[in-house]
Amino acid sequence: MAHWRLIWVALGAMPVSLLLAVAGTAVPPAGKEGALPPPPPRAIPGITAADPFRNACVDCHVARPDIAVDARFATALAAWGETVRPDLLERAQAAAPRGVTLKGKHPPVPGALADIPRSCMACHDDASKLAPPFSRLMHSIHLSGGEKNHFLTIFQGECTHCHKLDDVTGALSVPSGPEK
Ligand code: HEC
Ligand code: HEC
Ligand code: HEC
Repeated sequence: MAHWRLIWVALGAMPVSLLLAVAGTAVPPAGKEGALPPPPPRAIPGITAADPFRNACVDCHVARPDIAVDARFATALAAWGETVRPDLLERAQAAAPRGVTLKGKHPPVPGALADIPRSCMACHDDASKLAPPFSRLMHSIHLSGGEKNHFLTIFQGECTHCHKLDDVTGALSVPSGPEK
C-alpha cells in the first residue's frame, strides 16, 4: 500500500515532459528533427492485413486431420441431431427468444450446408420464434469464456473473421457459402 502512495507522490512532483517519458509516450515537439512517426496500424484481418477467411464460417469450420479437429457443420449438425453438449445448450438457451425452452436436439436441416450462414438464418434471424438468433448466438459462442475460448485465443476474437468491410461504402456484411 504505502509504497504505491510514494510512487504517486513522486510522479506528482515530476515535470510533465518527464512524466510522458516515464509513461513511454514521450512526444517530441512538432517540427523538430527526430519526431516519431505514428505507430503502424494494428493488423486487422481484411482491413489492414490479409483476410485468411474471406468466406467467413465455411473457410474456418473445416476438417483439419493434421491436428485431429473436424470443425465442419455437417459433423456438428449430425451430433446435435442426437444431443447438444450442455455448455453449448446453455449458451443457446441464453440467446433464445423469450419463452422458448430448447430441447437440446437440432431438427434435420437438409440442404442447409449449401449456403452457410444464409440458409441457417431462415430459422436463426432476429425475428425467429423457435431458435436463437445468430446475431446473439454467434457472439456468445465465439466471444465469451476468455482464455478457454479458442476463437479468442487462436483467432484473437477478430470481428472481421465474420464481418467483412466494404471500405468504400462502409457497409459490413457476413458472407455466405457452401461447406467445403
Ligand atoms: C476464424 C475461424 C472461425 C470463423 C470464421 C467462424 N468460427 Fe465458429 N468457431 C470457431 C472456433 C475456434 C470455435 C470454438 C469456440 C470455443 O472454443 O468454444 C467455434 C465454434 C462454433 C460453434 C459451436 C460449435 C460447438 O460444437 O460448440 C458454432 C455453431 C459455430 N462456431 C458457428 C459458426 C458460424 C455459423 C460462423 C459464421 C457466421 C462461424 N462459426 C465462423 C472458429 C470460427
Ligand atoms: C429449419 C430451421 C433451422 C435451420 C435451417 C437451422 N436451425 Fe439451428 N436450430 C433450430 C432450432 C429449432 C433450434 C433449437 C433446437 C433445440 O430445441 O435444442 C436450433 C438450435 C441451434 C443451435 C443450438 C444448439 C441446439 O441444437 O439446440 C445451433 C448451434 C444451431 N442451431 C446452428 C445452426 C446452423 C449452423 C445452421 C445452418 C447450417 C442451422 N442451425 C440451421 C432450427 C434451425
Ligand atoms: C463467428 C462470426 C461472428 C463474429 C466473430 C462476430 N460476429 Fe457479429 N454477427 C454475426 C452474425 C452471423 C450476425 C447476424 C447476421 C447479420 O446481422 O449480418 C451478426 C450481427 C452483428 C451485429 C448486428 C446485430 C446486433 O447484434 O445488433 C452487430 C452490431 C455485430 N454483429 C457486431 C460484432 C462485433 C463488434 C464483433 C466483434 C467484437 C462481432 N460482431 C463478431 C457473426 C459474427
